[in-house]
Amino acid sequence: MSIHTENVAKKVTLSTIAKMKGVEPITMVTAYDALFAKLFDGQVDMILVGDSLNMSFLGKEDTLSATMDQMIYHTQAVCNGASLPLIVLDMPFGSYINEETAIRNATRAYQETNAQAVKIEGGKERAYIVKALTQNSIAVLGHIGLMPQFLRSDGGYKIRGKDQADIDRLIEDAQALEAAGAFAIVVEGVKSEAAKAITEAVSIPTIGIGAGVDTDGQVLVWSDMFGFFEAFKPKFVKQYCNGATLIRESLSHYTQEVKNRQFPSEEFTY
Ligand code: KIV
Repeated sequence: MSIHTENVAKKVTLSTIAKMKGVEPITMVTAYDALFAKLFDGQVDMILVGDSLNMSFLGKEDTLSATMDQMIYHTQAVCNGASLPLIVLDMPFGSYINEETAIRNATRAYQETNAQAVKIEGGKERAYIVKALTQNSIAVLGHIGLMPQFLRSDGGYKIRGKDQADIDRLIEDAQALEAAGAFAIVVEGVKSEAAKAITEAVSIPTIGIGAGVDTDGQVLVWSDMFGFFEAFKPKFVKQYCNGATLIRESLSHYTQEVKNRQFPSEEFTY
């Protein structure tokens, strides 16, 4: 049975998400603007304003140059478009390098947007930051496994959980985040058996991306899942539509009609 009545029609809160573990898979997508957020409103449990916007929205090669100002601007837009999902602002690289910086920036997230939580990347080495935030009444979504903000220091995007030693490290990371007060954890780019073990080792929900089917929920980046981001397609991305082709064909239709003076016809003329 669904936690929600009629297709996620109620406001999703932190306690809704907590209750979904082991009961009903959590759905999360990213959004960066009000238009798409409105389309997603009432259909997903959570929206992440991911720093992936630096790549798919701004056209940069990685997420590292995203700024707090950018994240706040896009989160304001998403909050203007969607009222029902739980909205999470992704803290950008460098915005949580120590407790004081993290509290200052996450306080901005709460004061300047209606996001209900922030997300930070890192395992047990960052648990003290998560604790500082949660002790200051800021809800935190953790993020472990493949962490895009570690791209340069790790020397690339690396799939995690390939052996028992790494699975044990990931479990320790997840447990440290839970102990620090995180309400849920994104588990990215890990072998499915590792994601299953992590999910079973904590009592807060795990939300997988490239982590198999055994997590408590799934997240995808909207521009990947709707086929708009064409630079590359990771194995875990399922394209639910081919947005790029749809737009190109529609645009071509429009330009032909303009060139042929078919548009605007009577119907579209005052
Ligand atoms: O920035 C982002 O979109 C993310 C997701 C990939 C989880 O962190």
